[in-house]
Amino acid sequence: MIRYADSLEGIAPEQVQGFFVGWRHPFPPETHLRMLAGSDLAQLAIDDETNRVVGFVAALTDGVQGAFITLLEVLPEYQGQGIGQALMEQMLQRLGHIQTIELMCDPELVPFYERFGMKPSSGMVLRRREP
Ligand SMILES: CC(C)(COP(=O)(O)OP(=O)(O)OC[C@H]1O[C@@H](n2cnc3c(N)ncnc32)[C@H](O)[C@@H]1OP(=O)(O)O)[C@@H](O)C(=O)NCCC(=O)NCCS
Repeated sequence: MIRYADSLEGIAPEQVQGFFVGWRHPFPPETHLRMLAGSDLAQLAIDDETNRVVGFVAALTDGVQGAFITLLEVLPEYQGQGIGQALMEQMLQRLGHIQTIELMCDPELVPFYERFGMKPSSGMVLRRREP
């Protein structure tokens, strides 16, 4: 069964393997955990049987006006089971008091995010290193 956690307590790097699929420079588990710890909010999906983290979403926020969802990923073998949707719903609930929630995504992900009431907008990005 999948359980969801809003804290990194008790999570070790060995449990956070296999993410950043398709990235040229995938982050090692230790760095990934540091990124999650440095986020204002992180939500995890954990496979109860293996204790492995199988999905996560992270966000930065000023606590009032804006929040930015930095990363959302579900491990390939766990995709298509509603985990990504659950993580987004939980994160949006935790950000319920924030006026504007933004994220960047590829065009093919637009229909996924529209499910949560999000609308396409324009944005700018400075990439110092290709993902
Ligand atoms: C995008 C991602 C997080 C979705 O997670 P997931 O657990 O596979 O998605 P879910 O099973 O919760 O899907 C929920 C619904 O959204 C739909 N959906 C999933 N991915 C979709 C997509 N790319 N476009 C449109 N709809 C999508 C599903 O078909 C499902 O619909 P249903 O309820 O009618 O069956 C996952 O595919 C992923 O990690 N992809 C690689 C990393 C990535 O692209 N992250 C987003 C960066 S912006």
